[in-house]
Amino acid sequence: MDEERFLATHLVYERRSNQRQRILEWFAEEVNPNVSDGETFDILSVGCGGGHLDVPIASTLFDRAVRLRYTGLDPNVVECESFARLWRAAALDEAHLEVVAESFEDFRASRSFDLIHFVHCLYYMPEPAAALERARQLLSPQGRLVVFQAPRGALNELAGRFYDKQYGRPTLFSEDLGVLLDDWGWEYERQRIDASLEVSPLFGTDRETGLALRDFIVQVDGRRLPAFVQELVERYLTSIRVRDGEEFRIAHPVDVFVMRE
Ligand SMILES: C[S@@+](CC[C@H](N)C(=O)[O-])C[C@H]1O[C@@H](n2cnc3c(N)ncnc32)[C@H](O)[C@@H]1O
Repeated sequence: MDEERFLATHLVYERRSNQRQRILEWFAEEVNPNVSDGETFDILSVGCGGGHLDVPIASTLFDRAVRLRYTGLDPNVVECESFARLWRAAALDEAHLEVVAESFEDFRASRSFDLIHFVHCLYYMPEPAAALERARQLLSPQGRLVVFQAPRGALNELAGRFYDKQYGRPTLFSEDLGVLLDDWGWEYERQRIDASLEVSPLFGTDRETGLALRDFIVQVDGRRLPAFVQELVERYLTSIRVRDGEEFRIAHPVDVFVMRE
């Protein structure tokens, strides 16, 4: 998918899931910046995307009168522009935003961070262990590293097949991340957050929304897929959907890992 299609389909997908709201609630409850007066709480969001999650996170902390410096990092230029736009619209001017349009591998930080988070972006990194090791080095003494990573499960059994092929490596789901951290010996807390994705347009008449949902699920511009693959995807999604009144839903959980310096 090109950058614009990725952002557009991601927005459609997230709007139909209650997972992002749950992630936001997690940040609101768990992140209590205990910086002393006059100090700044420094956050690095790796793979920040279009800012649709980060701007509400920043607003929540800003409302608590925390002096905030927020760095959003993403190689997708279209998403970085969206982030800066949303930040301006949220009138967070007194909090400092820096948007860095590059990959984490290329990022050269000039300071350490009190909180570094990776929300659904470790899958895309060629060397996730190296990325976590670098993030650890960028934490300030009391800093926390937070990773939101999807477990395998019905939806990702499908998504993973496409990701593995596209990126030429096995996709790191939360089960694999747990093994990686256990092998490494870095202590962590882990919590499952349940959520669901409303997928009715995949099976209804709103074709455009249905295609956007399908494309984001498999991370491929589906129009390029052979007809028989499109049919297999549709049959698989039909087999895992659950009726909820007039709607269809698919489980959309996420695991959160928290590591301390
Ligand atoms: C599924 S989106 C998640 C965006 C955002 N964290 C959210 O939850 O809304 C994954 C993001 O990771 C970014 N990404 C991919 N490779 C990356 C890399 N090597 N370094 C940093 N970000 C990367 C993508 O551009 C994309 O915006």
